Amino acid sequence: MSSSASFIFLFLISFLTSFREASAQDPTYIYHTCPNTTTFTRNSTYFANLRALLSSFTSRNASYSTGFQNATVGQAPERVTGLFNCRGDVSLEVCRSCVEFSVNETFTRCPNERDVTLYYDQCILRYSNRNILSTLNTDGGIILYNTQNVTSNQERFKDLLLSTLSQAATEAAGSSRKFDGRKANLTTFQTLYGFVQCTPDLTRQECLRCLQQTINGLPTDKIGGRLVVPSCSSRYELYPFYNESAITVPSPPPTPPPVSAPPRREYSICYLCAIV
Ligand SMILES: *[C@@H]1O[C@H](CO)[C@@H](O)[C@H](O)[C@H]1NC(C)=O
Ligand SMILES: *[C@@H]1O[C@H](CO)[C@@H](O)[C@H](O)[C@H]1NC(C)=O
Ligand SMILES: *[C@@H]1O[C@H](CO)[C@@H](O)[C@H](O)[C@H]1NC(C)=O
Ligand SMILES: *[C@@H]1O[C@H](CO)[C@@H](O)[C@H](O)[C@H]1NC(C)=O
Ligand SMILES: *[C@@H]1O[C@H](CO)[C@@H](O)[C@H](O)[C@H]1NC(C)=O
Ligand SMILES: *[C@@H]1O[C@H](CO)[C@@H](O)[C@H](O)[C@H]1NC(C)=O
Ligand SMILES: *[C@@H]1O[C@H](CO)[C@@H](O)[C@H](O)[C@H]1NC(C)=O
Ligand SMILES: *[C@@H]1O[C@H](CO)[C@@H](O)[C@H](O)[C@H]1NC(C)=O
Repeated sequence: MSSSASFIFLFLISFLTSFREASAQDPTYIYHTCPNTTTFTRNSTYFANLRALLSSFTSRNASYSTGFQNATVGQAPERVTGLFNCRGDVSLEVCRSCVEFSVNETFTRCPNERDVTLYYDQCILRYSNRNILSTLNTDGGIILYNTQNVTSNQERFKDLLLSTLSQAATEAAGSSRKFDGRKANLTTFQTLYGFVQCTPDLTRQECLRCLQQTINGLPTDKIGGRLVVPSCSSRYELYPFYNESAITVPSPPPTPPPVSAPPRREYSICYLCAIV
């Protein structure tokens, strides 16, 4: 793993939820980074360029149907380069609402920083004065995990998790939209779900490298976890957290839904962040 990769681990504040992701809800905020080492003022050309960039992301012809858009506005050193990328399984409407929401939130979370990444469950928004397009970036991400441990067949769980996610990574890296979701039978009663995605401006090799890094950084002793970095993300759970019907999975028909209530999610959110 690259030594420059600083993943931030999460502690504290477990919240228990058992809602199903509804399409009409606000996007779920995960995390953001915007180092205050490079800033702009409201009367600057950078701010004007940034506003133009963000309004292209919320314009009528923004490419929510492909879930990805990039843009560059202005000339260096006041040039802004940015992108949005929606999770591969979400609908055009969910993508639009996530991008609009993130554009609305960005000046609240990062009022005058030039280099910004906002992570939501359904999309990411990035912009910078650097050229971030077609550039692998695995710095400053975050790990979220379910605090519940895997209690039986730990070795089998780990093997199945890593093999499922690396198959997904290979498939995603070779595809044009650079994502893949797939599942595997853990036991007769339990299914493991995995989902990986890169921003589609990366090459196959860069995407694979990014995903290998995020997969290797995941905990393998928890019943759910994810690692998101600017260029890609990897996630697994024991429940279907993505829309299976929106993904063409080369696997047999789904197993019957569990009779019991959906698993409770117990996530930790970052307050005391230890940089590794
Ligand atoms: C930048 O952030 C650091 C840590 O969050 C803070 O201590 C510092 O005062 C900030 N600098 C400016 C110029 O806002
Ligand atoms: C922007 O405004 C600040 C004060 O608010 C001023 O110091 C600065 O010179 C202005 N910059 C430009 C480019 O007008
Ligand atoms: C949307 O339209 C505007 C002008 O009508 C154009 O400048 C922009 O490039 C278009 N964006 C996309 C993603 O097609
Ligand atoms: C956006 O990315 C495409 C390829 O994905 C590239 O052809 C295009 O030039 C980029 N647009 C901007 C404005 O950088
Ligand atoms: C963004 O803000 C505008 C104006 O404040 C508001 O009309 C719009 O509904 C907001 N969009 C979202 C998705 O929150
Ligand atoms: C999970 O296992 C670790 C040690 O392996 C332990 O410290 C932790 O308390 C366990 N978590 C739960 C929720 O049981
Ligand atoms: C998972 O189990 C179901 C039912 O037991 C079976 O039909 C399906 O083929 C299995 N899936 C995989 C990927 O092995
Ligand atoms: C899942 O995806 C399918 C196919 O794109 C779509 O018809 C369906 O409405 C989606 N379901 C949800 C809950 O978003």
